[in-house]
Amino acid sequence: MAIPKIDPPITNASGPLSVTEEELHALGRSGAGAVVTKSMTHCPRAGNPEPRLAARIDHDVGSINSMGLNNLGYERYAELVPELKRHGKPVIASVSYAPCEHELPLEEQYLVIAKALEEAGADMLEINLSTPNLTGIPIATDPENVRKVMEPLRREIKIPLSVKMPPYNNSLPLFEEVASLLVELEVDAVVTMNSEPNVLDIDLQTRTKRLRPRGGYGGLGGPAVLPIALGEVHRFYRYFRERGCEIPVWGCGGITTLEDAIKHFLAGASVVQVGTALLWEGPSVFERLWTGVERWLAEHGFSSVEEIVGAVQEARGA
Ligand code: DHB
Repeated sequence: MAIPKIDPPITNASGPLSVTEEELHALGRSGAGAVVTKSMTHCPRAGNPEPRLAARIDHDVGSINSMGLNNLGYERYAELVPELKRHGKPVIASVSYAPCEHELPLEEQYLVIAKALEEAGADMLEINLSTPNLTGIPIATDPENVRKVMEPLRREIKIPLSVKMPPYNNSLPLFEEVASLLVELEVDAVVTMNSEPNVLDIDLQTRTKRLRPRGGYGGLGGPAVLPIALGEVHRFYRYFRERGCEIPVWGCGGITTLEDAIKHFLAGASVVQVGTALLWEGPSVFERLWTGVERWLAEHGFSSVEEIVGAVQEARGA
């Protein structure tokens, strides 16, 4: 199914400043081309114990979080969708999984939430297959689970479905297996990447770990992950296009400047998402970045972003 037009093609990344009603309305009023909710689960969740966010680590290379899927629960987000839609831009509901008292199996929890958000009027669902901060539920790294979660959604959900993927880094056979499955499942877009999982930072003054949950490990976003994200975007883009498949790739990871966004487009992203920079700067980040992108395009003789999507050239010898 055709995905909604995201104009401008820049949105928030699910997570930072997309949890509460106020935060979501602020995104609605911002220069973002869509509103993406925090990943929602069946039951409301308070999330992990604090400290669970190192918003700005040394050298400003990024942020590390182990939030633990703090969210209002899907029923509240379903209530919010109609009012969020009044901002006149697509509302994208991010759907995730966490065990709760209802003891729904993995795929059923995804389906119950997805149906409710479709019914509520969400324009698209971003199926989060890659939450790094809950132990023991690998989905995007387990092709069988990808199929188990996505097949019922593909069958029963009519609105467009994107999938949020983790970095595959050096796991290339796994990447190929999952990418081929996403082609088979006819997902409507791939969002890459989620935060770089299982990183650690230390506060030297106190010689303590920055985060408390999960032994101090969390997910890294921000400038440090830009080259990782570009690699992931380009790998998916090439994989699909080499097989004559038009699945759009949305780029997420490390965008804090207009140049970072341009690199994502060149690598193959048709929409970009901003997480850590939103956390640092607030919702005015979208206007700053988009104004810059438009100026760059004009200065380089392009009339639209589409002209540069995937247009990166191979390096040549001297
Ligand atoms: C959380 C972090 C993520 O990167 C994600 O995809 C979902 C949830 C979290 O810890 O809340």
